[in-house]
Amino acid sequence: MKKIILDCDPGMDDSMAIVMAAKSPDIDLLAVTTVNGNYPVDVTCANARKTLEMLGIDNIPVARGLEKPMVRNAPSDPFTHGRDGQGENFLPDPRLPLSDKHAVDMIIDLVKENPGEVTLVATGPMSNIATALIKEPGIKPMIKEIVAISGAFGLNKYAFLNATGDTPQSEWNVYVDPEATKIVYESGIPLVALGLDVATYFDVNFSEEDIKLLDESDKKEAKFLRQAIRFNGGRGFDAYCTVIDCMAVACVIDPTLVKTMKAHVGVETKDGLTLGMTVVDRRHHHVWEQLPVIEIGCSADYGRFLKLLLDLVLE
Ligand code: BDR
Ligand code: CA
Repeated sequence: MKKIILDCDPGMDDSMAIVMAAKSPDIDLLAVTTVNGNYPVDVTCANARKTLEMLGIDNIPVARGLEKPMVRNAPSDPFTHGRDGQGENFLPDPRLPLSDKHAVDMIIDLVKENPGEVTLVATGPMSNIATALIKEPGIKPMIKEIVAISGAFGLNKYAFLNATGDTPQSEWNVYVDPEATKIVYESGIPLVALGLDVATYFDVNFSEEDIKLLDESDKKEAKFLRQAIRFNGGRGFDAYCTVIDCMAVACVIDPTLVKTMKAHVGVETKDGLTLGMTVVDRRHHHVWEQLPVIEIGCSADYGRFLKLLLDLVLE
């Protein structure tokens, strides 16, 4: 079993990532930590707990994290996950108590208790993770890996056609907290960044048969996904928007699902047109060696990804 902490900002796709992580027999979900991102942290916290309650799970701690990016104010999202942040599923208010620990301390403590074993899965802005690294730099070599939905690397046209940040070529999680992203990219911790290049380019989609299976299922999580797809469709967005963050969890369950490559990547932290861009130095010559080297996602096996996701949702 792979031990993970899911640091997220639910969000309908973060909610589905929680569903996958909580139900996968290959994953030991140590905690869900929440952060400001798609919605203010009180909403993302409530949504994480609502999601676990939907699954009937009451033994996975949920910790509240940063209310805003490290040095900036929280921007508002040009995309919407609906009035409740969960594709208008309107799940019941959570009864699960929130952990007494701050998300940053939850990350630090769990990493120390499980040295070398914990993968941090980041599906929101990296504010909590970067703050943990600053507060307790000693945990860096104890973190097995970070797998994140992060960046837009320009490897195919979808990276920028589907840009989710509020500048023309940025991805939302980076755009919200570019300073935090820079700290994490430069931390030296093994990092797989799945950008919009792979997380929003689907050469297959949910088939009619898949939708029928969701319609016919009596699982609450199947109904949740079906409603999120319906909500998105009503706004002219493809079904994949409901499962973007799931790819990070899928990649931990089965790393062969995604092809990656090493790249020198810089994060733009200056305001203006390029804020939040993740710039890859792909030159033959004169490469900026000072930029950190991380793994970036190049392509994915979408058929296998969707099958893994649906099997977990429907089982
Ligand atoms: C990211 O933006 C958010 O809206 C999604 O939850 C996902 O984490 C994709 O850019
Ligand atoms: Ca997210």
